[in-house]
Amino acid sequence: MLIAPSVLSSDFSQLGNEVRRMDLCGADWIHLDVMDGHFVPNLTFGAPVIRAVRGFTEKPFDVHLMIDEPLRYVPDFLDAGADIITFHIESQSDTEKTLEAIRAGGAKPALSVKPGTPAQALFPYLDKLYMVLVMTVEPGFGGQSFMEDMMEKIRVLKARRPELLIQVDGGINPSTIRTAAQAGADVCVAGTSVFKAEDAAQAIRDLKAAAGQK
Ligand code: DX5
Ligand code: ZN
Repeated sequence: MLIAPSVLSSDFSQLGNEVRRMDLCGADWIHLDVMDGHFVPNLTFGAPVIRAVRGFTEKPFDVHLMIDEPLRYVPDFLDAGADIITFHIESQSDTEKTLEAIRAGGAKPALSVKPGTPAQALFPYLDKLYMVLVMTVEPGFGGQSFMEDMMEKIRVLKARRPELLIQVDGGINPSTIRTAAQAGADVCVAGTSVFKAEDAAQAIRDLKAAAGQK
C-alpha cells in the first residue's frame, strides 16, 4: 500500500519543512489538496504555494483539485511541478479535454468521485486514467469519518479494470486502511492520522502494516 500524507493537516506556517518531514518519515507521495471555496466549502492554496514547496522533496506531488474549473488551471499546476493531477468528474470542465491537457503536459491524469457519485460515472474514461480516487468523506475538510459503504465502488472498479490504481481519501487510520486494502485500494491518503501523530514515521509504518502486503 502506498501512503500519501495530505498536507491539509500540516503546520501551514512550515509547509516546506512539513513536506520534507513527510519524505523523511517514509511517505510515498505528497498529497496536496487544492480547494477553491466553490466546488467545496473551503479554501486552501493554489499553484504558487505548490511551486514554493516543490524543492523540499523529490517524492511525487499528488495534486487533488477540488475546484470548479480544473481545465483552466491545469497549466499552472503542471508548471508548479505536479506529477499526478486528480480532478473531480463532478467539476464543470470537459472531462476528456482536461485529461488530455494533463497528459499532454507530462503529468499523470486521475479522476475522482464524491461519495454521491456512482463508480459507473467513471467507466467511459477508465482507459485514459492513471488512477481513480474514491472519496471516503465529503471533500472539503480533514478529520472526518471514513464512509465504509464506498468500498463497493472500489470492488466495482477493480473488477472492471484490475490494473487501474485506486486511491482512497478521507478518514484513513490503521483500522479503516485495512478495510480499504481488502476492498482493493492501492494508495491511501492520510491527513490527520499521520500529521497529528506524535511519531509520523511510526504512523506511516503502522498504516502500511495494517494494510498488509500490497
Ligand atoms: C478532504 C481531502 C483529504 C483530507 C483527508 O477533502 O481531500 O485529502 O486531507 O484528511 P483526513 O485523513 O484527516 O480525513
Ligand atoms: Zn485529498
